[in-house]
Amino acid sequence: MRKPFVAGNWKMNTDSRSSVELAQGVAKGASGLAGEKVTVAVIPPFVYLQSVVNAVRSTGVAVGAQDLYIESKGAFTGEISPAMLKDVGCNYVLCGHSERRHVLGESDEFVGKKVTAAIGGGLLPILCVGELLSERDGGQTEAVVARNLKTGLAGLGTDKMSAVTIAYEPVWAIGTGRTATPQQAQEVHEFIRGLMADMFGKKLAEETRILYGGSANAGNAKELMSQKDVDGLLVGGASLKVDDFVKMIQASA
Ligand code: 13P
Repeated sequence: MRKPFVAGNWKMNTDSRSSVELAQGVAKGASGLAGEKVTVAVIPPFVYLQSVVNAVRSTGVAVGAQDLYIESKGAFTGEISPAMLKDVGCNYVLCGHSERRHVLGESDEFVGKKVTAAIGGGLLPILCVGELLSERDGGQTEAVVARNLKTGLAGLGTDKMSAVTIAYEPVWAIGTGRTATPQQAQEVHEFIRGLMADMFGKKLAEETRILYGGSANAGNAKELMSQKDVDGLLVGGASLKVDDFVKMIQASA
């Protein structure tokens, strides 16, 4: 029903050579699965997008960007438009990754504008949501995730919503080696799906893919993916190693 989706967010890593090698390694290792049994995307830094697109052409591996700007062109020094991403062959784009929210200060409202801009530009946004450790400890997980989702998806009709993937990434689990337990992930994913049903109807909620991210690795991928509402993985550190990332794709198939 929902095709598994494994995406590798390379963050601010790799260089011109290793980005291409990594992309080629993923395409080779995932051949027969990528684009068929599993949606596979690699998400390199902006400057390597074009060479990574070229490296995975016709392999079934898709390419995403880590961010985008909300305007289509003009005097926005340093920013990248949806059309530019489309032009170099990107299909997916992360919106509201926790590092953009908590390191770069992006608000829910700004993230919502990015989701709208992405869809308007023909891209498929991956909206990232998730709570800080203090928010989890304070019993605020559902409130934070609901706010991220409601504001992030504000103004989208059901027709546009079918372009969106959600990624639940508890901030305390990102890059810390402290993965959410499969049960913790499932609880929040189920909550997200329920919220989507309230907002967009049950059918769309059942069709929307909800990925888990936060210290996912080759060792825990299968158990995370065995949860009913976990439809895929958004992988940071482990996506920089071909063998680990390929194992995670295989575990998700
Ligand atoms: P890690 O897998 O390194 O914890 O990062 C997760 C993440 O932020 C993916 O977007």
